[in-house]
Amino acid sequence: MIDISNLSKSQLKVLDDVKEHTLKKGDFVAEYLEEFLYVGANKWNQVTYIDAMSNAGVYRCGTEGTSIKVMRRMIILAKKYPEKQFNFIVNDYKLEKIEILHDILEKMKKGVSNISTWYFNEDVNDFFNVMQTHDTNRLFQSALSITFIDPYNYGYIDMIKMIEYMNSRRTELILNLFTSDIRRNLRNEQAKNHMKMINDSLTSLGVNTSEEDITVLTNDIATRLRDAMKRINFAFRYPFHNNIDQEIYSLLFLTGHIKGIKKFKRAIWKTFDGSDRFVNSKNKMPEGATQLSLLDEDEIEKIEHFYKKDLQGKEMIKLIKSEFKGKDIWYNDIEEIVLENSLLGDNHIVTYVIKPMLGKELTKLTEGKAYKGETLYRVGE
Ligand SMILES: C[S@@+](CC[C@H](N)C(=O)[O-])C[C@H]1O[C@@H](n2cnc3c(N)ncnc32)[C@H](O)[C@@H]1O
Repeated sequence: MIDISNLSKSQLKVLDDVKEHTLKKGDFVAEYLEEFLYVGANKWNQVTYIDAMSNAGVYRCGTEGTSIKVMRRMIILAKKYPEKQFNFIVNDYKLEKIEILHDILEKMKKGVSNISTWYFNEDVNDFFNVMQTHDTNRLFQSALSITFIDPYNYGYIDMIKMIEYMNSRRTELILNLFTSDIRRNLRNEQAKNHMKMINDSLTSLGVNTSEEDITVLTNDIATRLRDAMKRINFAFRYPFHNNIDQEIYSLLFLTGHIKGIKKFKRAIWKTFDGSDRFVNSKNKMPEGATQLSLLDEDEIEKIEHFYKKDLQGKEMIKLIKSEFKGKDIWYNDIEEIVLENSLLGDNHIVTYVIKPMLGKELTKLTEGKAYKGETLYRVGE
């Protein structure tokens, strides 16, 4: 919690109310960032976090926003690795929000000399432009960087400018892809401007706007963004649902390296316990309700986990068979397909995909150590 007792009435007014999915989203991003910062501190001289739509860092009830959660983790690592440089760049188009965030962050990091902060007060699409020529672009080309873009809706972001920004820097991206905005407003004649904004944005990416199935459409956006960004090779998207189990948005993760996807998956399993989506709680079992069962909770959890992974594994086996029937593929190929198309992490692939196929639909063609990149398999007819 952040002490907001010293904020003025007008400052309090600009703070947002917090929703359950917002908190979970922040916890998840911070969980991934912890891994990211750790890898960065170990392998690189500099690590950079860029938050293009940061908010004030605190909600009206005093609960911490994502940027504060990330800064807490950065401070711990900066103290542990005093020889490494950490960079923290934030932007929001509301000046009052950036001022509040500035005060909180500067107080938090006082005395930690290897964290540098930058504060911007730009419209997000101008921020993309500014950052392309900003000093930090030149300075941080050799840093491990991540950018977080978290709008209230889909239409705000100029996708072409975002792609140009991404191509000007070496950075991973977590983008909040506002599915519900597209679903509600893509054909909303009552909100013509907004409708046009969404249509223009989708068209600029080459997405087929007449597609009715929102999941197909969102997957198309993810793939097109991945392919348009020159340093990005992998995309993965994790959905957040409302209490009637409809997607509100998904966090789209774009990275140049398969290792990024592996870490992202670890954070998903840690935060969401293997669920294929986060659902706001009204839909879940009411508090106090009990299930009649002869098993204890640990056992139920183990069985649920097994079924979640088993189900995902079966889907991936189907996909591998349909794409590679009669062909030879490397372990790395299997790993990439599974990591991009299912919730399974790298540590689940052998048990839930390879072993169930071996001796039946999959034959190992190489000698030596199994389950490594250089292992070759033949997918049966
Ligand atoms: C969903 S909130 C971000 C929440 C934050 N990421 C968190 O998890 O705590 C979106 C933020 O974007 C800002 N914003 C909205 N439109 C913007 C624009 N066109 N340019 C820059 N910032 C914008 C809003 O002021 C708001 O603070």
